[in-house]
Amino acid sequence: MEDSAAHVAYLDRYYGRQRCIYDLSRRFFLPGRDRLLRALDVRSGHHVLEMGCGTARNLLKLARMQPDARLFGIDASAEMLRTAAHQVKSAGLHDRVSLRCCLAEMADPGRTFGLDRGFDRVFFSYSFSMMPDWRGVLQAALRCLAPGGKLAIVDFWDLAGYPRPVARWVNRRLHNHRVHFEPALLARLHEQAGQGGYSLKLRSVARRWAYIAELTTS
Ligand SMILES: C[S@@+](CC[C@H](N)C(=O)[O-])C[C@H]1O[C@@H](n2cnc3c(N)ncnc32)[C@H](O)[C@@H]1O
Repeated sequence: MEDSAAHVAYLDRYYGRQRCIYDLSRRFFLPGRDRLLRALDVRSGHHVLEMGCGTARNLLKLARMQPDARLFGIDASAEMLRTAAHQVKSAGLHDRVSLRCCLAEMADPGRTFGLDRGFDRVFFSYSFSMMPDWRGVLQAALRCLAPGGKLAIVDFWDLAGYPRPVARWVNRRLHNHRVHFEPALLARLHEQAGQGGYSLKLRSVARRWAYIAELTTS
């Protein structure tokens, strides 16, 4: 596995160029994000964490959907967070949206944000597939959840609904940008749900271009 410093350096190189056109260029390429935001069912007073928040596009939408929630975002790329911080400030939401530069696998409510409670919702939007240490990231996400909380993920799936040449072409392009669908992650979520204390809901987006997974604690 690539070490963290090399991973962060790659992200900053890549997003240093992409961050200004990111929101516009990914609009049709990353389906299911708004469905995920609705599925989160964020309520008044909730604390919500996005792991790999990028430009804060999702956090800003959530802030408008639920004006009484506190939003938190982490991202490993300081470059991406420059755009996020600018957008949060321009929207006048800096008192409700907190951002930190941090690897997802290191995230912790106390150490990262000085909170003395877990998050009611933790979510990933097209970021898990970029995180090499997915096992460490999943453990950190589960540790960050408050009792009764929900973990939700939208990300690239196996493209099973597309002709093989199309799926191969898309996968090659994703691979070139260090993006990988990790089947073992879904297996791990099923295992977690099977151990009791969690329930799992898995849905397809756009003929298995992407999946939405919701793991709810009881
Ligand atoms: C494809 S972008 C998605 C951004 C945003 N979630 C969205 O839906 O538009 C993936 C994001 O994950 C971040 N990322 C990748 N690996 C990470 C890690 N190990 N820890 C935290 N963030 C990471 C990248 O810097 C990038 O901002």
